[in-house]
Amino acid sequence: MTTHMYDAIIVGAGGAGLMAALYASKGGAKVAVVSKLYPTRSHTGAAQGGVGAALGNHEEDYPIWHAYDTVKGGDYLADQNAALVLAENAVDAVIELEHMGLPFDRTPDGRISQRRFGGHTSNFGEKPVRRACHAADRTGHMILQTLYQQCIKENVKFFDEFHVVDMLVRDGGCAGVVAVEIGTGDLHVFHAKATVFATGGWGRVWQTSSNAHTLTGDGAAIPLRRGVPLQDLEFYQFHPTGIAKLGILITEGVRGEGGILLNSLGERFMPKYAPKIKDLASRDVVSRAIYTELQEGRGINGKPYVYLDITPATVNHYSKQDGENRQIDRAYIESKLPDILDFCRTYLGIDPVEKPIPIHPTAHYAMGGIPTNIDGQAVIDENWTVMPGLYSAGEAACVSCHGANRLGTNSLVDLIVFGRRAGMHVAEYVKGADMPALPTNPTAEIHAELQRIRQSKGKTRPVEIRRAMQKLMMDKVSVFRDEAGMTAALDELFELRQRYVHDLTIDDNGAKYNTDLMEAWELGCLLDVAETTTISALERKESRGAHSREDYKDRDDNNWLVHTLIQRTDGTDLSLSSREYAINTNKRVDLSLAEHDERFIPKERVY
Ligand code: FUM
Repeated sequence: MTTHMYDAIIVGAGGAGLMAALYASKGGAKVAVVSKLYPTRSHTGAAQGGVGAALGNHEEDYPIWHAYDTVKGGDYLADQNAALVLAENAVDAVIELEHMGLPFDRTPDGRISQRRFGGHTSNFGEKPVRRACHAADRTGHMILQTLYQQCIKENVKFFDEFHVVDMLVRDGGCAGVVAVEIGTGDLHVFHAKATVFATGGWGRVWQTSSNAHTLTGDGAAIPLRRGVPLQDLEFYQFHPTGIAKLGILITEGVRGEGGILLNSLGERFMPKYAPKIKDLASRDVVSRAIYTELQEGRGINGKPYVYLDITPATVNHYSKQDGENRQIDRAYIESKLPDILDFCRTYLGIDPVEKPIPIHPTAHYAMGGIPTNIDGQAVIDENWTVMPGLYSAGEAACVSCHGANRLGTNSLVDLIVFGRRAGMHVAEYVKGADMPALPTNPTAEIHAELQRIRQSKGKTRPVEIRRAMQKLMMDKVSVFRDEAGMTAALDELFELRQRYVHDLTIDDNGAKYNTDLMEAWELGCLLDVAETTTISALERKESRGAHSREDYKDRDDNNWLVHTLIQRTDGTDLSLSSREYAINTNKRVDLSLAEHDERFIPKERVY
């Protein structure tokens, strides 16, 4: 076992992790980034359409309008102070990225080009506004490359392909993490004053997902196993437009550039569901509309998908109807959406400039996660008590600026704004903090758990359990859910957990690059997140944002304008074998903007 000592350890090398590392390092901290991937393969690179900031480069826009859209889009569950920080800090964070060299697309007069996105409006919901700053449809990729270069320049130390598998807790504080060096199989202790979990989400809980295979919820499950609560897990976003069957993301930027959703009758159906903002309603609304079209038999050729049409003839036709008069052509689409064209040609064999794209909703983004304050510090109860030394940022965290449903582009905003704030806070925190003591035998429990998996002599391969879980979650805990389905899901998850603990087998018993072992370990994380998501969703007896219950169809502000916190009640065994969770629904939503401006008071969401 090797032990490394740093002021700060950042777990995860996506946008949030890199921003936190950069700012902690700039602030004088000795920083290391530990990631199971090579940094530029992190999932931030898959974010396509843009990063929202009220720059007003094409039309009037202000951060307060951005904050309003964020709160309304989140069905009023967002903490309003966090939404305001997100919107206000977005402006200089984007300018900062530009100054770091990020190659944004440009307006004819040289400013950052902006496009429309779902739920982005001017003047408190009046009409769509161009707020998404973009680098073609590769915005996340460009952010990742830019921040990685900056971290290298700033001498941040990287431990690539080191898979974090445990968190070290001593005297109620975080003292670092344990990681497996994938190339050797050796365990390493990373001992630090501050640890930032920036590990992204867990889309691989579901069968159809826009997420990379690596998004297995490690950064949620590990703290959960060590007693940290997770907040608002019931809110999981399905992006409306994933490539049919495959789930690969087709950016909302396609609709931002004028793309239209059509059903089997050739009908543009979104005006039925969102008369004002139509195809650019927020994601929960559009995903439900697509599911409803499918359930009512209007899938294309009876299949479970609808069309997303960006062909110039369709766009120009509907744009005229909407009084906008866009005149787009092949050259325009090729310059604005090159990756989308490429994906469709590669995976579907179609050219979207000529034919519509078959799409359906795809599991995309966790609004919930490790509860934090606006400086990235993890909070562990409804009284906002901070856990010393533990931070989180990006999708792994729940600030909560997205509430019950995140607006498109706000994930990239979240990671640059709150990654930066976490990094700044870490830099100050480590100056005054002593190095915490390590627990005795810091690797003992995770070593035992990895040995259990390695030596399992059962009959079930991890892939069988994973596939069964993914199908179950897709069928029973996705866009629509109800008590009967979720109760059945919980029973089946329990059975799958029993097989995971008592009947597993893997093929590779070796040490080096044992991806078989690591995938089996990741499956344990997925099961933890699937189970806690389902329990949280069963508990919330209302419909709000991405949580749409068929048995409680209305939003219930009297009883449910609160966050949920789910926590393990037993803190001993890493391979949890039964339902040992407590759920707390007393964490108040911060409605601070509503105290000054009645537009922020929760009300019916009409688009
Ligand atoms: O549609 C998209 O380009 C995705 C962006 C996001 O999730 O924010």
